[in-house]
Amino acid sequence: MKFFIDTANLEQIKEAQALGVLDGVTTNPSLMAKEGISGKNNVLKHYVDICNIVDGDVSAEVIATDYEGMIREGEELSELHEQIVVKLPMTKEGVKACKYFSDRGIKTNVTLVFSAGQALLAAKAGATYVSPFIGRLDDVSTDGLALIEEIRDIYDNYGYQTEILAASVRHTMHIVNCAKIGADVMTGPLSAILGLLKHPLTDIGLAQFLADHAKANQ
Ligand code: E4P
Repeated sequence: MKFFIDTANLEQIKEAQALGVLDGVTTNPSLMAKEGISGKNNVLKHYVDICNIVDGDVSAEVIATDYEGMIREGEELSELHEQIVVKLPMTKEGVKACKYFSDRGIKTNVTLVFSAGQALLAAKAGATYVSPFIGRLDDVSTDGLALIEEIRDIYDNYGYQTEILAASVRHTMHIVNCAKIGADVMTGPLSAILGLLKHPLTDIGLAQFLADHAKANQ
């Protein structure tokens, strides 16, 4: 399973990249705003800065909601850097734009997906990635992981190449369960990725090894 980090924070992206397990980055307009990035030129420069830190795909979301606007923005974003993936909302216009870009070999990520039907449409439109938001479904008492399972089944039935990018991941068990279910990618915060490291028996075991080594070598 690929690991993407879901942030626009350059320091966190660098930290995840330094760990050696990072395969890409997802951003959204809220995450860009959280970092205080505003104004078209600053936003575009920030995407390039992110691409220069990581080796993999970097999702950059369009703001336009109309088809022509999405095409204009998406083309501009894709020309910024070869690692840019055009992120489009799951709307009628977004699906049409997804088809436009996939026909031209431009990578896409269809976002704000909350149902298997939406994921099926994204695959039909040739999306590179589909982003079901599992945490936001859990927030409203709906099983986010069950949606990943449904989409996995549907895509496997027909051999769709669209990668299931489990988004809105909140914690380590989301990551582990996504891996068990067969999500192709997960995107989550640095805290969830680093959380995978933790086990008290690892800490206790290491302390014991070092103490025994010190005793034997004094
Ligand atoms: C996906 O690409 C989104 O950026 C993201 O995962 C949304 O997560 P949230 O529900 O934690 O905001």
